Amino acid sequence: MILRPALAAEAPVLAAIHAEAFARPERWGPSALALMVEAEGGFGVLALSGPPPFGEEPLGFVLARAAAGEAEILTLAVRPLARRIGVARALLEATQQAARERSAAALFLEVAEGNHAALALYRQAGAAEVGRRRRYYSDGADALVLRLNLSSE
Ligand SMILES: CC(C)(COP(=O)(O)OP(=O)(O)OC[C@H]1O[C@@H](n2cnc3c(N)ncnc32)[C@H](O)[C@@H]1OP(=O)(O)O)[C@@H](O)C(=O)NCCC(=O)NCCS
Repeated sequence: MILRPALAAEAPVLAAIHAEAFARPERWGPSALALMVEAEGGFGVLALSGPPPFGEEPLGFVLARAAAGEAEILTLAVRPLARRIGVARALLEATQQAARERSAAALFLEVAEGNHAALALYRQAGAAEVGRRRRYYSDGADALVLRLNLSSE
């Protein structure tokens, strides 16, 4: 697997991964994804199966934003065929590193309270629950707000 910055021009690839990873109401289209990459402080990491010219199959991506000493994960998605092989863990580590390089002391994320896979991923990385947004998702689920401390590493 290789990781490299995701480009706004790759938004159609990101949207295809997002559509595989999320149910229809939670899917984001190419223009929304491109805007997030291009926004001030925005950045993304794309995971590919291997280096070019062979095996450049997209596996997953993360989009995040850093501003004023804090960073936030906007979305994280791994294609079903590439799950449980460490793609999300690698993307999360790359996001933590990129956020530190942008002088962030903390990385925040929101996750549906029933999303056990994502919760396990974030808790394993040391994230702590710091808040709850009631009925945040279209299906009425609450979002948990998690925080990862970046400063002590
Ligand atoms: C959540 C998601 C990103 C995990 O991606 P992944 O690449 O399969 O995760 P990894 O292989 O890196 O797993 C890292 C750790 O996360 C946890 N984890 C991941 N998937 C899990 C699952 N289905 N059940 C329980 N724990 C899980 C485990 O602790 C795992 O470590 P282990 O494999 O050593 O036990 C992926 O399932 C996904 O894209 N889901 C749909 C979109 C989504 O929910 N995004 C996050 C929204 S905030």
